[in-house]
Amino acid sequence: MSGNDGNGGEYGEATRAVRLPTGGGPQGERPMRPPVHRSTTYAFEASQDYADVLDGARGGYSYARIDTPTADAFATALAAMEGAGTGREVHGQAFASGMAAISTVLLALTSAGSHVVASRALYGNTFSLLDGLLRRFGVETDFVDIGDIEQVRAAMRPETALVYTETLSNPAMLVSDIPALAGAAHDAGALLVVDSTFASPAVCRPLEHGADLVLHSATKYIGGDS
Ligand SMILES: Cc1ncc(COP(=O)(O)O)c(C=O)c1O
Repeated sequence: MSGNDGNGGEYGEATRAVRLPTGGGPQGERPMRPPVHRSTTYAFEASQDYADVLDGARGGYSYARIDTPTADAFATALAAMEGAGTGREVHGQAFASGMAAISTVLLALTSAGSHVVASRALYGNTFSLLDGLLRRFGVETDFVDIGDIEQVRAAMRPETALVYTETLSNPAMLVSDIPALAGAAHDAGALLVVDSTFASPAVCRPLEHGADLVLHSATKYIGGDS
C-alpha cells in the first residue's frame, strides 16, 4: 500500500514507517533525526507576535505544555502513518501520556448529560475514568460486549456522543470490528474513538475503516517497549 509522505510524495508502507515527515528547522534544514527541543518558552521580536501565536493567528510556539517542535514532529509522523490510506489530511496531537490523551478526548467530546457506549473490555484505567470520574461529572457510560454489534446499536441513544473501543483490547486481545462500529456510531450521530495502542499503525489503521479519532499510549509498540 502506498501513502503520502506528508511532503507531497508517495511512499510504500515500509518506507513510510522509517521516513516520516520531520518538519523543517528555522533555516529550512532537515535533520535526519529531529532534535529534542527542551525550552519551555520562546522569544519573540514583538509582543504582537506572541499574541498572534497565542491566538492561533499564526503558527509558532509559546509554551511547552501547549506544544513544542519535538512533540509536533512526533504527532505529525504518527498522523502520517495513521492517515496514510484515508485520502484525507489527518492531524495529530501529542500528550504527556496515553491517559492524558484519553482524558482530554473524553472531556472534550462530552458534557454533563452526554452518554458513551464503550467496550466492556478496556484498559483498566480507561474503564475507571468512564465508570468513576466521568459518571461523577454527569457523563453516563453503558459498557457492552463490543463484539455484539446488535448490543452496541441497542445501547445508542440520542445523547450518545461517542462509541469507545480498543482495536485489540488490553489485556484480553478482543478484536473490534471497526467498520461495523463506525456504522453503528455514525447512524446514531456519534463518533467512533479507537485506542489502537495494541495494534499500532503497522497492523491496523482504524481511520481507514471509518473511525473518527485514534489514540495511542506511545510507551508500547510506538516506543518499542512494554
Ligand atoms: C491500551 C492502553 N491504553 C491506554 C493506556 C494508558 O497509557 P499511558 O500509560 O501512556 O498513560 C495503556 C497503558 O498501559 C494501554 O495499555
